[in-house]
Amino acid sequence: MIIGVPKERLTDEYRVAITPAGVRELTAAGHSVFVEQGAGTGCTIRDEDFVRTGAKILPGADEVWGAADLILKVKEPVPEEYDRLKLRTDQVLFTYLHLAASRGCTDALVAAGNTAIAYETVQLPDHSLPLLIPMSEVAGRMAPIVGANHLMRPAGGSGVLVCGVPGVRSAKVVILGAGIAGMAAATLAVGLHCDVYVLDRDLERLRSVDHHFRGALETIASSTYAIEENCIDADIVIGAVLVVGARAPKLVTDDLVAQMNPGSVLVDISVDQGGCFESSHPTTHSNPTFKVHESLFYCVANMPGAVPHSSTYALTNATLPYTLEVASHGWRQAARTDPALARGVNVVEGQVTYEPVADAHAMAYTKLSSLL
Ligand SMILES: NC(=O)c1ccc[n+]([C@@H]2O[C@H](COP(=O)([O-])OP(=O)(O)OC[C@H]3O[C@@H](n4cnc5c(N)ncnc54)[C@H](O)[C@@H]3O)[C@@H](O)[C@H]2O)c1
Repeated sequence: MIIGVPKERLTDEYRVAITPAGVRELTAAGHSVFVEQGAGTGCTIRDEDFVRTGAKILPGADEVWGAADLILKVKEPVPEEYDRLKLRTDQVLFTYLHLAASRGCTDALVAAGNTAIAYETVQLPDHSLPLLIPMSEVAGRMAPIVGANHLMRPAGGSGVLVCGVPGVRSAKVVILGAGIAGMAAATLAVGLHCDVYVLDRDLERLRSVDHHFRGALETIASSTYAIEENCIDADIVIGAVLVVGARAPKLVTDDLVAQMNPGSVLVDISVDQGGCFESSHPTTHSNPTFKVHESLFYCVANMPGAVPHSSTYALTNATLPYTLEVASHGWRQAARTDPALARGVNVVEGQVTYEPVADAHAMAYTKLSSLL
């Protein structure tokens, strides 16, 4: 199969959908990989790195889209790419799509008549989302780092050094949500020698956190009272809750923030689901924070975008096995044998096969099984 990897067109998107190691795996399996010139520049992967492991560099996006049986991307096509979807009607697109949130992209895919598999809806039998997990891990690990940076006085924080120094206390870090992002945040915060408290309403999760960290942090059953009691004197609060299919619950009120120490920092990872602090609203890497009372809110909705090199490797480590399945067996056979991948198939030859997308846009829904 010919696999094409274009440069991302979305503003501020610096990741690329393949790494040199991925190129090596795909070419070793007998496939050809065509990468658009400069596709890896934003995440410091050079064209020659791709060539070294067997890729061919093509000068422009049209050449890549025109040649490939399978297009690998990071983000959904943007309007300037819609015409390229029509270059090959037999093509498969594998990328983050978030179609329920974009009627324009859904219409473009349906009109083009090709097949699209969404990273974010690939789902394992235990309901976990293996192609979303790496980005929660990145955002979670970033959270104590950005929190530590913003605690510094020049950034507007209280001037506490998170790790403390001999004779001086370290920062108190409260993490709301002990899922993928929360655990990743806890790992970093413990590593930074912070005084860490993890709250979740799921006691099983707290048991596994407790077991994993062996006394290096405190686990606390989440309740309105526990949140207030723990956040009030925190230096950093990290919001990492998720209620699948719903907006994030508002767990930290403005009244509570008003009672917190001046210069405390609140990092809302859940802001992409509406945020779990009352006054959260999405911010960008160029202007990441705003003040609420005397505290600083960091609410970047695309945290992994700040570390495109690491994010590219984390993402492609997870996508590569699925890419190999599709490339080696064709998407139909791959979806027949792997139910997790089948959950990712959103559009087949112009028909919407993922029910929540059809529902979101009041479009006709076709059961995938009828097309396999
Ligand atoms: N901002 C970003 O750049 C970025 C990047 C990746 C992920 N995210 C977001 O991070 C959030 C967390 O993702 P995840 O993968 O860790 O989810 P997850 O499902 O693994 O974990 C969520 C946790 O929240 C807990 N929870 C739910 N409601 C709660 C409540 N009321 N009180 C306490 N705990 C509660 C759940 O029990 C669960 O343990 C999601 O909203 C995700 O979209 C944001």
